[in-house]
Amino acid sequence: MAEITRIDLWQALDSRGTPTVAARVHIGSHAATAIAPSGASTGSHEALFLRDGKTSFDGLGVTDAIATFTKEVVPALIGITGNDFFELDRTLRSFDSTPTQSRYGGHIPVAITLATWLAYAKRAHVQPYEVIAQHVGAKSSLPLPMINIFSGGAHAGRAIDLQDILAIPTLASTFQEGLEWIWKIREEAKKILAKKGFDVSLVADEGGLTGKLSGDEEAIALVADAIENAKLTGKAHIALDIAASQLFDGKNYVVHESGAEVRLDSTSFVARWRGWITEYPIISVEDGAAEDDEEGWSEQSQLTSQVQVLGDDRYATQLNRLRLGIGKSEANSILIKPNQAGTLFAALSTLKEAKAHRWNTVVSARSGDTEESWLADLATGSGAGQIKVGSTHRSERTSKWNRLLELSHDRVTPFNTERALNRFI
Ligand code: PGA
Ligand code: ZN
Repeated sequence: MAEITRIDLWQALDSRGTPTVAARVHIGSHAATAIAPSGASTGSHEALFLRDGKTSFDGLGVTDAIATFTKEVVPALIGITGNDFFELDRTLRSFDSTPTQSRYGGHIPVAITLATWLAYAKRAHVQPYEVIAQHVGAKSSLPLPMINIFSGGAHAGRAIDLQDILAIPTLASTFQEGLEWIWKIREEAKKILAKKGFDVSLVADEGGLTGKLSGDEEAIALVADAIENAKLTGKAHIALDIAASQLFDGKNYVVHESGAEVRLDSTSFVARWRGWITEYPIISVEDGAAEDDEEGWSEQSQLTSQVQVLGDDRYATQLNRLRLGIGKSEANSILIKPNQAGTLFAALSTLKEAKAHRWNTVVSARSGDTEESWLADLATGSGAGQIKVGSTHRSERTSKWNRLLELSHDRVTPFNTERALNRFI
């Protein structure tokens, strides 16, 4: 018997110390736990994280939400087969069919569906990634990592406007080698930043370095110099997460140059980072326009042959939003965050659709994450190609890297950079 026999829910903490939901799902005598991650630069199209808004944790508590869900929804989930992700999703949506799961939020469903997957893997005596590979119909392979070096935006007190400047070990031949290259780049970036007088012991939400530099370009140049100093020019490249929704006031983008506020329309904003991709070894740009800025996304569509144009807030891991993007050919890749979709099944459906249209897929953690490592199995089993977890620092990040190192040790097929990013190098 592989049916769900019991579900326990309780309030836990994420890596920012903010309350979140933990779910333990029992399948007969096997049980597994999963904790919902949560974002800081959340998009308006993603599944909601509903908080109680009462006195507990100054309104951030989730115990009321858990009590309501346990009473109203959980009984209907008992008896569903552990690997029937579709039926679990269908049943959950029969209680809340709104696109952003506005009735109960996506935080409880995502924790339950992830824990069900992990409990089922235990029950079937297989690795979690193997269950995902079978569901997706993919060949498991380790993902190529994009790793945060310097943080700004909502993850670092707005030290700079850009949210993430990341490095990708594009020409590494193994996962271990790639991780060591990025470690070197971070060390070199640290030296440069220390010389500029910044405190390099302080890290941002995702473990990245940070500091109030003169503006975004100084930070990009710093990471480019770090790649050069690490003697990895041409072997490692830069990815940006501009997180442009955070900078858009509905009409203009508000950015800062040497302390002064600058307002740019969509065309000038895209032109600004278009200039950077010709100047620096940037091969991937995430959320280069705000989530609903049609003009900005249409501008970006001209760059899909030059860089990985990656959508996060724009698609919010939602199948129908991805389909709109594919129809407009406005990008060539999508971030996959399970909690944006609200259930594991929904996240995997979006990933499969992207792959079917030859879009690159980047499985991603959140800025408020947890010590769990299932994201590594999700990226590996789905053959996503890429993963984004944050820095090499902090345990909620290293849990994923360490799991990938374990899978690498177990000889899971390594990533294939050629396929994913070669055309942009
Ligand atoms: P978030 O940031 O988890 O705060 O949304 C991650 C991202 O924007 O990719
Ligand atoms: Zn993002």
